[in-house]
Amino acid sequence: MPDKSVSYWTNTGQGLRAVELRAAGFKPSEAAAINAVVTVAAAHTNAHRCNNRVRRIADFLVDALALKGGQGLLVGAPAVSDALTQGTENAGYSLVSRDLMADCMETGHYAHHGNAMIVISGCDKTGAAALMPLARTNAFGLVVYPRTSAPGRVDFEPWASKGNNLTLMDYMEGSAAREAGRISDDQLTRLQRCVMPGSGTCGAMFTANTMSTVAEAIGMMLPRGASHPADYDAGSDIHDDVKKQAYASVEALYRLMEIGLRPRDIMVRKAFENAVTTAYAMGGSTNLYLHVLAIAREAGVMMTIEDLHCIGERVPLIANLQPHGPYAMVSLHKVGGVPVVMKALLNAGLLHGDVMTVTGKTLAENLAEVALPEELPEQDVIFQVTQPLAAPGNHISVLSGSLAPESCVLKLSGKTLEDGEFHGKAKVFNSEKAAMTAIREGGVVAGDVVVVRNVGPVGAPGMPEMVHLTIQLQGRGLGKEVALITDGRFSGVSHGILVGHICPEGAKGGPISIVQDGDTIVIDPKKRRLDIDITPKEMAGRMARLDPPELLDVPEGSVLSKYRRLVSSAHYGCVL
Ligand code: FES
Repeated sequence: MPDKSVSYWTNTGQGLRAVELRAAGFKPSEAAAINAVVTVAAAHTNAHRCNNRVRRIADFLVDALALKGGQGLLVGAPAVSDALTQGTENAGYSLVSRDLMADCMETGHYAHHGNAMIVISGCDKTGAAALMPLARTNAFGLVVYPRTSAPGRVDFEPWASKGNNLTLMDYMEGSAAREAGRISDDQLTRLQRCVMPGSGTCGAMFTANTMSTVAEAIGMMLPRGASHPADYDAGSDIHDDVKKQAYASVEALYRLMEIGLRPRDIMVRKAFENAVTTAYAMGGSTNLYLHVLAIAREAGVMMTIEDLHCIGERVPLIANLQPHGPYAMVSLHKVGGVPVVMKALLNAGLLHGDVMTVTGKTLAENLAEVALPEELPEQDVIFQVTQPLAAPGNHISVLSGSLAPESCVLKLSGKTLEDGEFHGKAKVFNSEKAAMTAIREGGVVAGDVVVVRNVGPVGAPGMPEMVHLTIQLQGRGLGKEVALITDGRFSGVSHGILVGHICPEGAKGGPISIVQDGDTIVIDPKKRRLDIDITPKEMAGRMARLDPPELLDVPEGSVLSKYRRLVSSAHYGCVL
């Protein structure tokens, strides 16, 4: 068990602690008898459904810890919802919040003299931030997920055939379809009412569930923790299984303390490889790249963007989830959840079975009794590795080229490009807003490459997600005929022909800044290239004439201005 003593170097220290505990509502005599001080780190808010149950779960954990003789001390942090910030001038605060949350959790943990830590995740960035303080402090601990939203259904196509699997993505695409006159007002209203009947994170393989999958697959969350529905239905209490897993997580924490197993014993290089492999097999978000690089840095594990590509390109797509497939995360949960995917990958030799997990057992031991996809009753949510939805190399790839000398990420979500590559004419925009106006006015047509620049980690600042642009393209039926390239990033909801994270970004003088309307852009996944089709001489001339970009004005001293000063490129995970 951990050492619970706090060392003071004044003779008033212990007495002062008793004064403080009493004033805060604790009984000092009981506090003196506790066996562990456990930081319950929770980004909670009532502002959105992604994290609005987090505080309740935190209270369950505090009660469960007390039953074990522990003292759970809450540490809060800002919980930014992408759904509330995307497409607004505050979108930069989303990625910024990842590191801010990790810092809050570290600060509270040490300031309260914590011995151990349970982190409750939630919306996208909270999922990444959950693993960062655990890796950074190496305090005994694990992650609890407040769970994903239950899906909905409607009775008109093209959504009716998805059954009870509609998510926020369907409403967003329906909204763009309404604008384009493809569905009626009434149909849009029905989608709005049905897609998200209750609380929870976005309900398919978007970024929140990508990061919950990472937490489970890396070994830092109890099995089947990544896919559970948050609610039974609208307005219901928290799902009993969520409560059960919160209590089970406390039991697991005490086991970890007993056997001396810490996060850095679990989050080793092989475990990162397992996490990336599993997220690829399930069609995870491009944000995976930013977050895994950041978590690896905290864990002291050497990983590069090229490592992630090499791990991912061996992996077939086997989970039939949105955004590439029809199903919601809850459908995956019903057939066994992430463990079934991992069992298939382990059997195919794609995972390391000998890594430790928060159960105190190895991954192979955890999966020993789990069924393979082919052993389940008939289903088409999880495919076999030998008969996948898409062969390896068709999900996310790292490219480089004349437009991305460092790197960029291409997301195809299992699709292949006609002729194996995409050539298109550039339509250049210096902001997301300008690109949105052009798409809405019909200024983007089949064969175009929408170029959105100055939206990187420094330029925006905070590297907002271009999701509303990708939604507009999908909703207007242009998803297969128009590509979008950007130094910004995408939401897990985004699908199509998408290249993001272009490095160096425009604000740092990257060559994305020299693209002009009408230039031919070539995306070639086989050669792993993103190029502009101009002569080297023309390229050099344009680069020489490039003026320093005009950066968006942010107030000096603000979080955004500090972020702009400190942030590294997406090539390194936007770490600070
Ligand atoms: Fe919070 Fe998607 S916006 S999980």
